[in-house]
Amino acid sequence: MSADIPECSPVVLQVRKPVGPPRADFSVNWFDGLPYRTHTFNATSMMFPLAESFFIEAIRAVSGNNRIASEVVEDFVAQESAHAKQHAAFNRILDKRFGLPNCVDARMKRQLSFVRSRGIINALAFTVCTEHVAAIYSEMVLDGYLNFSTAEETPYKLLSWHAAEEIEHKAVAFDIYVEAGGGYWRRCTWFAVLLVLFFSNVMAQTLSNLKKSEQLWCFLTWLDAFRFSFGRQGVAWRIALGVFEFLRPGFHPWKRNNYHLVQQWHIQQRSSFDIVLRSPKHAEEVTP
Ligand SMILES: [Fe+2]
Ligand SMILES: [Fe+2]
Repeated sequence: MSADIPECSPVVLQVRKPVGPPRADFSVNWFDGLPYRTHTFNATSMMFPLAESFFIEAIRAVSGNNRIASEVVEDFVAQESAHAKQHAAFNRILDKRFGLPNCVDARMKRQLSFVRSRGIINALAFTVCTEHVAAIYSEMVLDGYLNFSTAEETPYKLLSWHAAEEIEHKAVAFDIYVEAGGGYWRRCTWFAVLLVLFFSNVMAQTLSNLKKSEQLWCFLTWLDAFRFSFGRQGVAWRIALGVFEFLRPGFHPWKRNNYHLVQQWHIQQRSSFDIVLRSPKHAEEVTP
C-alpha cells in the first residue's frame, strides 16, 4: 500500500478481530499509575458502545443512496461493532473489578436522540465531527505524544487497536457526508455542539471515576490533570490544532496523512488480532 495517500478515502479497511476479550489483569491506575489520565481514557471507553452504535446507524441510513462502495461501509460497520463489543467487555471489568459504573449513558441517550430527531444528514454531520475528534485522540495514542505505550498491556492493546482503526476509517463518514450533499456550515455548527457535549460527558464520567476510586481530592490527581491537558505535550494543543484543521473550508481527513502510524502499529501488534477478510476483491487489496 502506498504511503502517498491521495485525498479521497484511499485506504482499504482491514477488519481486525482481537484474539479474545480484554483480560482483567490491569491495575486501577493503569496509565503510568496516574489516576487522572487513566480515568479520562476509562471515561472515553465508557462512552464508546453507545456512540459507535449511533455512528453505524447514521452511516447505514444514507449509504444505500450513496456512491461510496458498500464494502467500505460494511467494513466501517464491522470495525465500529467490534470496538463497541470490546469496550463493553472492558467497561464491565471497570465496573465489577474497580466499582466504576457508567454515569453518562442516560444523558448520552437523550443527546443522541436529539441529534437523531434533526434528521439523517444532521446525524451524519454529528458522526463526521465525532470521527474527527476520535482521529485526533487516535493520533496522540499512536504517535508517542502521550507516551501511551507505557500503559499496561491490556488497556494498551485495546486502545491502540481502536486508535489504529479510527485513523484507518477516519474519512469514511466524511466522504459519505459530502456525497450526500452535506456542506461546510452544517458540519461546523455540529462540531461546536459535539465539542460541548463530548467534553462535558468525558469530564462528568472522569469525575465520577475519580470519586469512586477515592482520587478526586488528591493534589497529584489535579497536577497530572494540568500536565495532561496543558503541559508541554498536553492534549489541549493537539485538540486545538485538530479544531483549526476541521474549520478550514477545504478540510479532508486525509490531508493529514498519518497512515504510517497504522502500518507501524499493525506490524508491532500483528500477533494480537486476526484479520477478517470480507470479500474476494478485498482479499487481493489488503496487505497481509
Ligand atoms: Fe471506533
Ligand atoms: Fe470511528
